[in-house]
Amino acid sequence: MAAPLSGSSALVTGATSGIGYEIALELAARGAEVVVHGRSAERGAKTVREIENAGGKARFVAADLNDADDVRRLAAAAGEVDILINNAGIYKFGTTAETDDSTFDEHVNVNLRAPYILVQKLVPGMVERGGGSVVNVSTIVASVAGAGTGIYGASKAGLEQLTRVWADEFGGSGVRVNALAVGPTETPGTTAVPGMLAAVAATTTFGRVAEPSEIARAAVFLASPDASYVNGAVLHATGGQRAIAA
Ligand SMILES: NC(=O)c1ccc[n+]([C@@H]2O[C@H](COP(=O)([O-])OP(=O)(O)OC[C@H]3O[C@@H](n4cnc5c(N)ncnc54)[C@H](OP(=O)(O)O)[C@@H]3O)[C@@H](O)[C@H]2O)c1
Repeated sequence: MAAPLSGSSALVTGATSGIGYEIALELAARGAEVVVHGRSAERGAKTVREIENAGGKARFVAADLNDADDVRRLAAAAGEVDILINNAGIYKFGTTAETDDSTFDEHVNVNLRAPYILVQKLVPGMVERGGGSVVNVSTIVASVAGAGTGIYGASKAGLEQLTRVWADEFGGSGVRVNALAVGPTETPGTTAVPGMLAAVAATTTFGRVAEPSEIARAAVFLASPDASYVNGAVLHATGGQRAIAA
């Protein structure tokens, strides 16, 4: 039996680490040719090597998503893709008083403007070719207040709203756009912040963090034809939220 995504191509941003890395491996295992994006050429080469060792196809494109021209260069280098996974994101936590302009701008640029430009540049091609799918990686703190997560959560809440707008803009042309709200997940990014994962894990019904592969499978579901009637949705892979005490 042919792999379910064989013949398709995918761009995964932030595929050099954590959740994006697992999504890239999972898409490649299902037959998609993957454009692996990140900044680190070394980690990019490692991701490509692991995909190839497992029998898949991939290539690496470096770009800094904080720079709009570099995002446009990434879109051009990626070429025709059927699946766009806007996974790359930054999360630098702090109170509102502590958040300076450059931290604010970086969240908006990387988490909101970069996905916007990639959709602007890559989705018209999907429309012309008659179909495609986009998955925007969001977070539980886009819809639940998290201490110190103000501009991070706001940038992802913006991405969730764009998801609904894009679902309307492109759904009639066969391109589905969905978001995946992610709960506490063990990645190189989160393990760098001591104590944070455990605190958030305690707010989930399972009382544990997620493995990146659990999140990747949910992202690949949204990207694949298995989700053919799902558009404009925000799927919560968050471990479920504990009820407040009555
Ligand atoms: N882990 C969690 O608990 C959690 C929870 C909710 C939502 N999320 C979301 O899930 C996504 C992935 O998170 P993660 O924990 O897997 O992150 P991570 O381990 O920190 O990896 C981040 C990825 O994004 C790339 N990246 C960051 N800034 C970039 C920039 N300016 N230009 C280009 N690439 C950039 C990194 O590339 P290089 O390293 O190559 O530079 C890396 O591949 C993010 O959108 C995050 O907000 C994560």
